Amino acid sequence: MVGRKLFINGEFVDSNEGATFESINPANGEVIARVAEAREEDIDRAVQAARKAFEEGPWPKMSATDRGRLLRRIADLVLERRKELARLETMDVGKPLRDSSKVDLPLVVDCFQYFAGMADKVMGETIPVPGKFLDFTLREPVGVVGQIIPWNYPLLMAAWKMAPALAAGCTVVLKPAEQTPITALELAKICQEAEVPPGVVNVCPGFGEPAGAALASHPHVDKVAFTGSTAVGKLIMEMGAKNLKRVSLELGGKSPNIVLDDADLDEAVPGSLFAIFLNSGQVCAAGSRLFVHEKIYDSFMDRFLVGAKKIKIGDPLDRETQLGPLVSAEQLEKVEIYIQIGQEEGAKLVLGGKRPDHPALAKGFYFEPTVFVDVDYRMRIAQEEIFGPVVVVIRFSDEEELIRMANSTIYGLAAGIWTTNVKRALNLAKAIKAGNIWINTYNMIPNQAPFGGFKESGVGREMSRHVMDLYTEVKNVMVYLGKGGVRWFS
Ligand code: NAI
Ligand code: MG
Repeated sequence: MVGRKLFINGEFVDSNEGATFESINPANGEVIARVAEAREEDIDRAVQAARKAFEEGPWPKMSATDRGRLLRRIADLVLERRKELARLETMDVGKPLRDSSKVDLPLVVDCFQYFAGMADKVMGETIPVPGKFLDFTLREPVGVVGQIIPWNYPLLMAAWKMAPALAAGCTVVLKPAEQTPITALELAKICQEAEVPPGVVNVCPGFGEPAGAALASHPHVDKVAFTGSTAVGKLIMEMGAKNLKRVSLELGGKSPNIVLDDADLDEAVPGSLFAIFLNSGQVCAAGSRLFVHEKIYDSFMDRFLVGAKKIKIGDPLDRETQLGPLVSAEQLEKVEIYIQIGQEEGAKLVLGGKRPDHPALAKGFYFEPTVFVDVDYRMRIAQEEIFGPVVVVIRFSDEEELIRMANSTIYGLAAGIWTTNVKRALNLAKAIKAGNIWINTYNMIPNQAPFGGFKESGVGREMSRHVMDLYTEVKNVMVYLGKGGVRWFS
């Protein structure tokens, strides 16, 4: 099968030890591909190729405008293949085809287009220093970049990582998640077709250990960009410390989604369903803590539960399906454990909490939309990331207390606020410690806006112009324009 090998130095190759692993379709547990597994030597080979391409290849000499053209070519090829890629994504992740074709693929195309335009707009500045000097800064690529991504948006995360790094002039070694390696390899194939010079992009599927760890601790990697769990993010930072790599982290969340008493429920109800159940809740920004004002609690919850019950679970390849399986048996097990924890903690399960009974779904890792009410904000189910279709509902009346509760987790990735009062919305937006605030909307993550977390949700901001800071070094250049400037020792 084309593209199921490692992509190193412009070629598809077997892993050094001949190791392989299986990628599974979460909808039925069937193996859909056998994929070469990168281990330490393979990562080393890929890093060396990236290093050589960065130091000696055509890449560093190419104009930023030409790099932009290459990115545009990648965007065009993704666009051409979007149907096939959406299908592959759905089969590898289990996300409904409706999601992969209407959300993921359009965002991937737009991401490459956006950074194609960005490539020749990364600029330094001239600085009015005292004295007869001209002082200016250059933005230079940071070097070889290791990128480790998760399984919830495999192709989109690959695009988020690759496009800005390439625009900056870096070279890349990308390790997709072991659950979902396929579309990143397809992207490698597209890079090959677009004639990205050998070594500039390398894609090495494999496990966290050894492949991810080998990449994060490799002495010739200048920067690591990671998206995944907070626990692994901390390890990545430790590994990066060995040679003081630049490290950016996009980690977990337990984001508050807040419905105030003056909210327009026609907007807030469907918006809050989207906030938590999109991609079966396997979204880092998922609105997994639903705070509902007591004045509208009953009317909101009645409608929310009716909406949640109506969500169509099924085969993700079916266009009608709204909720697919979870990505893996492990993820399903993790969610099931949290259901038990919630019940032990005294929260009340009012919807779901189990796998669907339908025999057609028995082989997949499906889980029903699940709602816990009577939740205290200090419970584990209200503090820890579950990463499944599970929402915990917390009732509130006082806004000061709401802010305290909303800010009470280790996370700070996102928040939603539903209200028709602009002052209340903006005061809350300022009070909540999170990198992304949505007012009367949710889960909108355009490539043009920065994305990232406060606190243990991460370090750095991806996307928008801000991401270019992660992939460039600032070099200050100072020129003396006068005469007789330095006479210290004479
Ligand atoms: P993970 O953090 O273990 O995996 C993410 C990536 O890191 C994968 O590519 C994995 O191979 C790699 N990795 C794992 N261990 C590593 C290590 N020691 N060194 C270098 N790379 C390593 O996440 P996992 O286990 O798949 O999911 C566990 C939980 O993490 C989820 O239930 C969810 O709560 C959270 N998560 C958050 C994501 C986000 O978008 N913020 C995405 C995926 C998971
Ligand atoms: Mg893991």
